[in-house]
Amino acid sequence: MADLSINCGGIKSPNPFWLASAPPSNTAYQNCKAFEQGWGGTVWKTIGEPVMNVCNRYGGFDLNGVKLAGLNNIELISDRHIDTNFKEIAETKKLWPDRAVIVSLMVESKKETWQDIVKRTVDTGCDGIELNYGCPHGMSERGMGAAVGQVPEYCKMITEWVTEVSTIPVLVKLTPNVTDIIYPARAAKQANADGLSLINTINSIIGIDLDTLEIQPSVAGKGSHGGYAGPAVKPIALHLVSQVVRDPEVGLPISGIGGINNWKDALEFILLGATSVQVCTAVMHYGFRIVEDMIDGLSNWMDEKGFKTLDEVRGKSLQRIDDFGNFNLLHKTTARIDQDKCIHCNLCYVACEDGAHQCIDLIPVNGHNKTVVREEDCVGCDLCAIVCPVEGCITMERKDDSSETKTWNELVSQFKDEDKELTWENLAEFQKKHGIVIH
Ligand SMILES: Cc1cc2nc3c(=O)[nH]c(=O)nc-3n(C[C@H](O)[C@H](O)[C@H](O)COP(=O)(O)O)c2cc1C
Ligand code: SF4
Ligand code: SF4
Repeated sequence: MADLSINCGGIKSPNPFWLASAPPSNTAYQNCKAFEQGWGGTVWKTIGEPVMNVCNRYGGFDLNGVKLAGLNNIELISDRHIDTNFKEIAETKKLWPDRAVIVSLMVESKKETWQDIVKRTVDTGCDGIELNYGCPHGMSERGMGAAVGQVPEYCKMITEWVTEVSTIPVLVKLTPNVTDIIYPARAAKQANADGLSLINTINSIIGIDLDTLEIQPSVAGKGSHGGYAGPAVKPIALHLVSQVVRDPEVGLPISGIGGINNWKDALEFILLGATSVQVCTAVMHYGFRIVEDMIDGLSNWMDEKGFKTLDEVRGKSLQRIDDFGNFNLLHKTTARIDQDKCIHCNLCYVACEDGAHQCIDLIPVNGHNKTVVREEDCVGCDLCAIVCPVEGCITMERKDDSSETKTWNELVSQFKDEDKELTWENLAEFQKKHGIVIH
């Protein structure tokens, strides 16, 4: 069986699966139960300033009957007494010495306040600290959370206060609600952080009740923006993780977060360079037991592929990310429909007709319409394959034999060498030479 153990910036755990700082990691009862089920670590629900939560505080985004495709919340940090939290953190760590117990912190932006809570946290015996610079609601209005994460100078200053006194590893949790996540990531690195966690929740309004016209979730008729999480945010999180990992100035271990529902989602984060992964919404939806499947799935995949450790897997897909200018313009695919699998729903026809390039024909055969791709007109956009409800019914077939390649960057520099301008006419000449027809 593959070795799933990890070391994320000095924090060790028997597997990469950690609870994210959120309701599932609120108490010793929950964290210990999670460890019994197999979780490798936990990031304790953020502790800090005295707060009080409101009812209602969550909003679900359902898509065509699928519950919680996204989850929005207006929850604050832990509303349990800070002393209770510290006592339970110490007890939990004592009971589970081989698991990673990381404590998430957020206090007002004063040096003494930060350094005091850091020292008290270290005294619990926990393995690491995560600085919550991410909450987009409630705390940011008080100058904390995203209000720090959105300003690299604050991010650096507070992280420096923390790393100055912390004797255990410090992870900085980043907010996605910024124009460029690289700047707060670099600020954390400059302030000697040991790692980064991303992403926290994304600013959102989940919806409006069309009877009452109230924003959801409604607090006695009033609502606000909240933090968006769950499966819907995974693509954004994957991108931001890859961006931070690829930055030459950051170079810190990453704890990947956002929309992880199963081992495959987790593996995608690891393939883009994450060392540990954190989960919140999926646990809130399905409970702690999902980790059993995550461990089995990841371990079986590694065995099948011949990977012995996660160090061998980490970042393996990063080399596949490139700039648009380096893509081969002569790579050609067209859609192919497997008529034996087709259920004649016509979704591909409608999508191509109204949303793409009008190159699927409907041909009446035996009382139904056969969908047929006119290959010469297909631009290989793959919309039909994406909308087709039958697995493997539409495939994108490669048409070029890779004997010739030309990237946009190569083409532009070729024009330059030939003293040609980048004009529509010169581009059309290149296309004609290679049999490319733009409708
Ligand atoms: C209800 C709720 C409460 C959360 N509370 C915190 C928190 O106290 N501290 C924190 O750093 N992140 C908090 N988060 C953010 C999560 O830790 C995580 O970054 C986010 O939910 C994305 O992961 P997911 O898609 O697996 O849910 C909270 C998320 C939710 C849904
Ligand atoms: S790949 Fe795009 S253009 Fe080709 S048939 Fe499908 S939808 Fe139409
Ligand atoms: S979407 Fe798929 S199943 Fe539906 S008609 Fe097109 S090929 Fe057939």
